[in-house]
Amino acid sequence: MAIEFDDQLGERIVDTTAHADDEQGTLRPRKLDEYIGQERVKENLRVFIEAAKLRGESLDHVLLSGPPGLGKTTLAGVVAHEMGANIRVTSGPAIAKAGDLAALLTNLAEHDILFIDEIHRLDRSVEEVLYPAMEDFALDIIIGKGPSARSIRLELPRFTLIGATTRAGQLSAPLRDRFGVLMKLELYPPEDIETIVRRSAEILGVRITKDGAREIAGRSRGTPRIANRLLKRVRDYAQVRAGGDITLNVADDALRALEIDEIGLDATDRRMLRGIIDIYGGGPVGLEALSATVGEEAVTLEDAYEPYLLQIGFLSRTPRGRCATVRAYEHLGISCPEPVKDTENTPIRMDDWLKTVKD
Ligand code: ADE
Repeated sequence: MAIEFDDQLGERIVDTTAHADDEQGTLRPRKLDEYIGQERVKENLRVFIEAAKLRGESLDHVLLSGPPGLGKTTLAGVVAHEMGANIRVTSGPAIAKAGDLAALLTNLAEHDILFIDEIHRLDRSVEEVLYPAMEDFALDIIIGKGPSARSIRLELPRFTLIGATTRAGQLSAPLRDRFGVLMKLELYPPEDIETIVRRSAEILGVRITKDGAREIAGRSRGTPRIANRLLKRVRDYAQVRAGGDITLNVADDALRALEIDEIGLDATDRRMLRGIIDIYGGGPVGLEALSATVGEEAVTLEDAYEPYLLQIGFLSRTPRGRCATVRAYEHLGISCPEPVKDTENTPIRMDDWLKTVKD
């Protein structure tokens, strides 16, 4: 696709330091060896990075997908560091026009990494500029307007695009197909989060006991960003109320004060589950209806809340909507109707059940 070139460089859409607007900047690992967990992803990346370096080439384009807070931006920074490359960080919604992307691309140097967060939110017209850029390292631009307009093809340096998305399924097929490396990040097991908490505590200079770290980890929903945020709040609490060190009791008191329960559910999780149970009889309920009930945007519920609730078996997704499982009832201390008990954690369809009751 040809685009009109706007030579007002779009610096405002670029954050050239991967850490600039990030509260956990100093906690981010820089090297693959410092990056905890996601072993399969790391192992694969290690091979691809080494091979690219051996050949003196840029790394193939990489797509990182997975729930928010798992370290996709961090990993992009790590890849840049391991490749010895510069990274430019931007996001799908920040690139409003095709010309913005053109400005970005023409300012890249050979082997640079362009990181686009929330790449599923790129405008279609912008996305089309990416196709030849990714595939042929070329930009088709139109100079001038009307009858005197000329189209020229501009050669781009061989760069690496790293895209991150919470919704791999929403990426268009042509865009997805142009990534040579597709990697899915999973929620972290508690042991990995515990290691991350201990590492972060060391960087922050706060003493933490093993069971204190385990307590924070167990309440962080398998998400490093949440773990680091909770650690900072527990540190505040420890400093003001408990002499500075983080122990199991200090962590528990601080997290209770934040309304984070013993398995990491916060007030929104509980509103969501209670909504399904109290208002929709356990489900199924559609995401939009649930969003109105809970007072959170549907995408927030889907991207940030559901993955953990699904993982711990509190929620099931059916084609007809979300259902609470027997575990969710038990956790909230609500006695569950018989058919829910019968189906264990398989989807419960209350309307089907009502039919059997009527019979
Ligand atoms: N901070 C955020 N994610 C991390 C990870 N996977 N390893 C170490 N520190 C982190």
